[in-house]
Amino acid sequence: MENFVYYNPVKLHFGKDAIRKLGQAAQSLGKKALLLYGKGSIKSNGIYDQVTDQFRQANITWVEYAGIRPNPAIEDVVAAARLGREENVDFIIAVGGGSVIDSAKFISIAIPYDGSAWNLVKGTARPESNIPLIAVLTLAATGTEMNKFAVVQNNATSEKLGFGNDLIYPRYSFLDPQYTLSVPKNYTSYGIVDLIAHCLEAYFGKGEATLSDKFVYSIIREAMEFGPALLNDLGNYELRAKIMYAATNALNNLLFYGRESGDWGVHTIGHVFSVLYDVPHGASLSIAYPAWLKLMKDRIPERIEELGKHLFNTSSANDTIAEMESLFGVLGSPVRLNDIGITVHQKNKIIQTMIENKVGGAHHKLSEHDYEELIDLCLQ
Ligand code: NZQ
Ligand code: ZN
Repeated sequence: MENFVYYNPVKLHFGKDAIRKLGQAAQSLGKKALLLYGKGSIKSNGIYDQVTDQFRQANITWVEYAGIRPNPAIEDVVAAARLGREENVDFIIAVGGGSVIDSAKFISIAIPYDGSAWNLVKGTARPESNIPLIAVLTLAATGTEMNKFAVVQNNATSEKLGFGNDLIYPRYSFLDPQYTLSVPKNYTSYGIVDLIAHCLEAYFGKGEATLSDKFVYSIIREAMEFGPALLNDLGNYELRAKIMYAATNALNNLLFYGRESGDWGVHTIGHVFSVLYDVPHGASLSIAYPAWLKLMKDRIPERIEELGKHLFNTSSANDTIAEMESLFGVLGSPVRLNDIGITVHQKNKIIQTMIENKVGGAHHKLSEHDYEELIDLCLQ
């Protein structure tokens, strides 16, 4: 087992009507907020009213930046940071899924930074301070509500990049499973795929951490047991709650303690599909993971077999991969590029972008030859 620091500073309120604690939390951070949200789901499902009621009761004023899109773009981060700076806000409140919360994380370090926000994303400049952030999660998937990661894309350069820094942990997160009742079936499915993929990125990382492996099996089993049930019963609070809590734990550091690193190679492949064709994040992963596992079958057969033994009661790498692919199918997520209308004609462009984005994992490196094989497997 590797040495590690066990740290997570997020105060997370989970459960029905958790939002009632928002006003008090906000008061501890200041008097004026930048309220960030997406394309408007929070207006139609009533979450916007509940958040702003809390602000009124707590005498918090706010300015708004709306319209953050799935696969969020750096332009919105820049524009919202400008607004936050001009309005001299004390803190940010992000109400939405991973795209809104990740954008808010970048905005929180871009407000006090003088240069271009893209420098922070690329790592050519380091953030030195931040504006505190509150997250109100409306979609169970990414784990961003309890981690120090954020992902944003630059459409001008076809890059979708992840970033990690202790400064961007939310100070508070509010997780009310009722807020996820309105998430449509497709995004519910992509969210379940994403949480499974986070478990796999941990599992295929570097270093032996047997207890963390057991947490991995447990979280994937939770998703296998309750994910398909939820997709048949989208209005079921208990199932929403189970999946929401599973998604948070799949990427809040828990699965990584004792390892040298996760892998994240499959996420880098998925990000290429997203930046080129606006593929939803979870859908990009259900396509990339089976292909990656097939590529890795002869390189790490025992590790794949071990996973299958614990999850599916199988005894070979081939059977494990077939079961994993079938699980993504049962969850209603695509498993081939052709399923989402991407064909062999786009192969060269995809590979070129993989090269430019230096696609590969922290543990399992990928060569340009691997890229070709992977994309063939995603197309077959
Ligand atoms: O724009 P709005 O109206 O908010 O609609 C959103 C959006 O269309 C909708 N939605 C969200 N909550 C809803 C709802 N619709 C109805 N009712 C609700 N309660 O769902 C759509 C997708 O939202 P999005 O935020 O894009 O989804 P998700 O949470 O899956 O976030 C994906 C982003 O997170 C990044 C991904 O790369 C992607 O950019 N990730 C972030 C990570 C992190 N920070 O740790 C790790 C992940 O691996 C991932 O890379
Ligand atoms: Zn993910």
